[in-house]
Amino acid sequence: MAGTAPRHTDGEGVDGGVGLTALLVAAARAIETHRHDSLAQDAYAEHFVRAAPACAQWPVRLQQVPDGDDNPLWGRFTRYFGLRTRVLDDFLLRSVRNGTRQVVLLGAGLDTRAFRLDWPSDCVVFEIDRAAVLAFKHRVLTDLSASPRAKRVPVPVDLRADWVTALTTAGFDPAAPSVWLAEGLLFYLPSPAETYLVDTVDRLTTEGSAFAFEAKLEKDLLEYRDSAIYTATREQIGIDLLHLFDKGPRPDSAGHLAARGWSTAVHTPFDYTHRHGRGPLPEPNDALEGNRWIFAHKPRP
Ligand SMILES: C[S@@+](CC[C@H](N)C(=O)[O-])C[C@H]1O[C@@H](n2cnc3c(N)ncnc32)[C@H](O)[C@@H]1O
Repeated sequence: MAGTAPRHTDGEGVDGGVGLTALLVAAARAIETHRHDSLAQDAYAEHFVRAAPACAQWPVRLQQVPDGDDNPLWGRFTRYFGLRTRVLDDFLLRSVRNGTRQVVLLGAGLDTRAFRLDWPSDCVVFEIDRAAVLAFKHRVLTDLSASPRAKRVPVPVDLRADWVTALTTAGFDPAAPSVWLAEGLLFYLPSPAETYLVDTVDRLTTEGSAFAFEAKLEKDLLEYRDSAIYTATREQIGIDLLHLFDKGPRPDSAGHLAARGWSTAVHTPFDYTHRHGRGPLPEPNDALEGNRWIFAHKPRP
């Protein structure tokens, strides 16, 4: 496991800047997969971590972490990602059970849901991320001879640019119901890009569609800069999350959708810790305190 951290600079690939956060979530999923009380299983996750030189020293099992669950990064933070994965797996599967056949993963990173969830055979999963991240993902999954369990359509595009043309050109049908996910994404985008994204999801969705996303409520992101999670992530693996997050004021995307007629449910991660009987609990100076998971549905008439 890494002791002192290299500093990573902003880059377009998976091995630097915001791309590296996709590997962090993959490492968390690897650790979660091998917990005796695992909340989500992702057999591919550890292969991404092992394929990227930037994280060769990262653990993929909790047993490789000397202080185990007491480690704020590899213990509590990875459990957070494990819980988030499970909750959003359940959300997507509920939507397809209700008849939706188009799934759009915004900022998909190394999400392997297309490969590991039990989709109806006529389901299409669109994965939007930057080209270099999707190229790395493709290489690792091809080396593993992994087969998707639905039709999988990578859409390499930057969400700060015109991604709608890329998505519709890739086959997305705005006239059919869809379910959308922005997991660990919005706080990396400038506020206008987030507002554009939410407006666009509204514009491209029929009644009966659904959208889950993660937001941070705090007005001042630096409020928790000394929290154990941010400090451990910076010191142990050189990822300064606060440096990567957009610093501008965040839009009220849940309120925005509600004003457009969507029904919205806003939950803390801790709600699900209680529901599942495991996961992170609140603590003082907690960087997770302002995190919210929002589940929005566009009602049918
Ligand atoms: C923390 S990772 C989360 C990945 C994935 N949703 C998951 O939970 O495993 C954030 C992802 O957002 C992507 N991302 C950030 N800014 C982006 C942008 N402007 N356009 C496209 N993707 C972006 C990154 O490349 C990265 O894969």
